[in-house]
Amino acid sequence: MSPFLLTRTLPSDATDAALRADVLDGLTRHPKSLPPKWFYDAHGSELFEEITRLEEYYPTRSEREILLARAGDIAAASGARTLIELGSGSSEKTRHLLDALPGLHTYVPVDVSESALTGAAQSLLAERPGLSVHALIADFTHTLELPDSPGPRLVAFLGGTLGNLLPGERAEFLRSVGARLSPGDGLLLGTDLVKDEATLVAAYDDAAGVTAAFNKNVLSVVDRELGADFQLDDFEHVALWDAEHEWIEMRLRARRALTVKVRELDLVVPFEEGEELRTEISAKFREEGVRAELAVAGLRLDEWWTDPAGRFALSLSTVR
Ligand code: AVJ
Repeated sequence: MSPFLLTRTLPSDATDAALRADVLDGLTRHPKSLPPKWFYDAHGSELFEEITRLEEYYPTRSEREILLARAGDIAAASGARTLIELGSGSSEKTRHLLDALPGLHTYVPVDVSESALTGAAQSLLAERPGLSVHALIADFTHTLELPDSPGPRLVAFLGGTLGNLLPGERAEFLRSVGARLSPGDGLLLGTDLVKDEATLVAAYDDAAGVTAAFNKNVLSVVDRELGADFQLDDFEHVALWDAEHEWIEMRLRARRALTVKVRELDLVVPFEEGEELRTEISAKFREEGVRAELAVAGLRLDEWWTDPAGRFALSLSTVR
């Protein structure tokens, strides 16, 4: 049996159709918005990797600290034979988990990016001969079909990406994860935590301007993929803390009144001076909120681990 399988649960043109639908919907609504998943073309993914190395951007470092400190606990509590990682990207963090899970039989990375999946799988297979890797090209916010693989299964959703979903989408997503797991299976979830506004805003508005470039990159993606004529210099990066919703919001603010054409959609989009396009929410959490959201999805929060500074949390929950 081949130790590497790649399954596409997205038709190969689904990404294009989804981008068109999202851009049409997002640029014709008020206020305008675009979903954050379109940041991550090759350049955007590189910019994100650069963000994770910034002094101001603590989540990646904090989560790694917890993973390293708790790998043994995670392994003992889950006893996982299959590890399913949602939004696996480069599978960088996964190595800490793989090292901690000696009984692991199958690794299932799930991502929309085929290049990220094959690249990550190649290097993991080289490091862990005998591990079987079944990569899934899928948009886990829409359909989550898990391959047949030995239990117990541990689903890992790291990095705080849950916070990119709106509360209703989050509930739907957690419910679908809960529904696909069996008793004894678990969910390992990374969530960034509510903290002082200055720390949060700095993490999304760094001094070197990497996050600004990352934010504007979504416009380059729409220009390239849909023949739009966004000029990046016409927009200003905005990151603000919404204290009511407890989320960071990233926006792009038009520096002047302008019109953008999206050729492939036959769409003309007017912007007023100062008008803002929302590109991301990144919700921050508290233990009680996470516990409650998990409970609604039929999951019981068993462990809650934070880094010593209390910035970020990893939680482990099991199916009730
Ligand atoms: C990868 C979704 C966790 O929300 O913090 C980083 C993305 N956006 N800087 C986050 C991001 C701006 C990041 N996640």
